Amino acid sequence: MPNQSTCRVCAGAVTEFVDLGTQPLSDAFRLPEDTTEEFTYRLAVGACAGCSMVQLMEEVPRERMFHQDYPYLSRGSAVMREHFRALAERFLATELAGEDPFVVELGCNDGTMLGTVAAAGVRHLGVEPSGAVADLAAEAGVRVRKDFFEESTALSIRDQDGPADLVYAANTFCHIPYAESILRGVVALLKPGGAFVFEDPYLGDIVEQTSFDQIYDEHFFLFSATSVDAMARRHGLELVDVERLPVHGGEVRYTLALPGARARSAAVTALLAEEGARGLHDRAVLDAFGDRIRGIRADLLALLEDLRAKGERVVGYGATAKSATVTNLCGIGPDLVEFISDTTPAKQHRLAPGSRIPVRPPADFADPYPGYALLFAWNHAEEIMAKEAAFRESGGKWILYVPDVHVV
Ligand code: SAM
Ligand code: TMP
Ligand code: ZN
Repeated sequence: MPNQSTCRVCAGAVTEFVDLGTQPLSDAFRLPEDTTEEFTYRLAVGACAGCSMVQLMEEVPRERMFHQDYPYLSRGSAVMREHFRALAERFLATELAGEDPFVVELGCNDGTMLGTVAAAGVRHLGVEPSGAVADLAAEAGVRVRKDFFEESTALSIRDQDGPADLVYAANTFCHIPYAESILRGVVALLKPGGAFVFEDPYLGDIVEQTSFDQIYDEHFFLFSATSVDAMARRHGLELVDVERLPVHGGEVRYTLALPGARARSAAVTALLAEEGARGLHDRAVLDAFGDRIRGIRADLLALLEDLRAKGERVVGYGATAKSATVTNLCGIGPDLVEFISDTTPAKQHRLAPGSRIPVRPPADFADPYPGYALLFAWNHAEEIMAKEAAFRESGGKWILYVPDVHVV
């Protein structure tokens, strides 16, 4: 009997299809002198027979992940800064173009998206439980509430500020197992013609590219149009639009609206049909994804061991949350990857979770350049490879493991 759990969307039976082993918290960067035992959990993914939602088999308590010292910063990528600026401008011209508009962002982080909204003088509220990043948003002129968004938060926001034209979340809704509470809150908070827009890594891209490192504690759900459509209907909303996005290795931006408020776009019908045609939710397709992960793991370890045997230096690039899944699944430690270069102040001079690979500032990457850089931040490849042209000129090579292990 395969492992089973209960679906967080419909309470149906979730059957496991891939096990990525014992894992630490993906964003718990520890001081070198900290020798206390690390929190671990079993990272495995399953699919619900009832509503098709792909989700983790085990849930990590939210306060362990999102707290005062949560290190991730939205502003860490120039491409993402431009992505959110352009989106905010689009919202200002569309969803927020009416009389005295109001937008609520879940997981506003350092205020990268809402900064543009605030500068336009439009009423807004960021809901962000992680203290240090919320402080950065406030410093950027964004109005922030340090809280987890859930139904009770939504009701209290509605009492204080009135209903919202737009509720928005980037790389946040998929982090929240209590989807039912979020959707009840959204329904209570939205104006009748309002929209809930969210963007998250797309199951279709994850399976196609075998980007198994998109699976970690914070990514509780791996959404598709099929599963979001079913979830929306179950919780009193309708999926009215989808947009595929090139960022973060492939995402979909979903728009939900109250029943009957908006017509469904052709893009929704097309993506649902595409998912059906490729069998995205078929057991055989998900099992084959698991088989390919095992292949990448073997190939990556073989390459790193071969480079070590040849006396080559390998440095990691980008101490992403994703990298915790890779290093801990493959058993990659400082013997194979000397250190990881990362721009995030709260990650530097600490050890990466589980693997205990040191994280160092980018200046160390060039001092001197290694022969090989393992690109953990492969979702920012274009931006990083352009910025690091001198590494290639020095004879350095990039190692990638998505969609397969290759050196460029
Ligand atoms: N939206 C930003 C972006 O796309 O760059 C930040 C994404 S970050 C990966 C996820 C954020 O969601 C974190 O800042 C975390 O503190 C926040 N978060 C987690 N649970 C939340 C909840 N229940 N309500 C609001 N924010 C939440
Ligand atoms: P993400 O893939 O979750 O956005 O995380 C990217 C990580 O990589 C984050 O810790 C910041 C880091 N990073 C760099 O070190 N240099 C860079 O040029 C970029 C774009 C990101
Ligand atoms: Zn379900």
